[in-house]
Amino acid sequence: MVKLKIGNDNKINLYRKYGEYSTVCKIVTDFYEIMEKNPLTAPFFKNLDMERIFDHQIDFITQALGGPKKYFGKSMKNAHSNLDINDEVFYETLNILDIVLDKHHVEADDKEAIINIIKKLKDDIVGH
Ligand code: HEM
Repeated sequence: MVKLKIGNDNKINLYRKYGEYSTVCKIVTDFYEIMEKNPLTAPFFKNLDMERIFDHQIDFITQALGGPKKYFGKSMKNAHSNLDINDEVFYETLNILDIVLDKHHVEADDKEAIINIIKKLKDDIVGH
């Protein structure tokens, strides 16, 4: 299981705060809608079983926010190996996440906490 710094030890359970499964579902749906259209990120998702990734992403984000589900998917390094993701693509993805979290009224402090956690995964995601 992937260890996430945010999660059950987080003082405020962001999963509960923002509306649990239904909100996570909306966030992940909106996130991929943009990722699949953005010229920098779209090529990575061509010909992929998006349903499988979507389910894993729901589990991953749920866990990251301190929710009950556990992510049992691949490690971030394995999931992104051979994809050759560079810094530009990584930061564009963070921008997309930022926009989507804004859309769902995630407060600035909470947004920063979430993005900081994701930033810590950069070395596993970029350059492999
Ligand atoms: C920003 C932080 C990111 C997080 C937290 C994240 C998380 C995940 C997760 C949880 C999976 C599912 C792994 C599995 O199937 O078990 C996944 C797969 C994938 N991610 Fe990411 N990801 C990130 C960034 C990116 C970026 C920047 C790209 C490229 C634009 C990307 C492209 C992909 C692709 C193509 C897959 C599917 C790989 C496969 O075929 O199994 N990810 N990611």
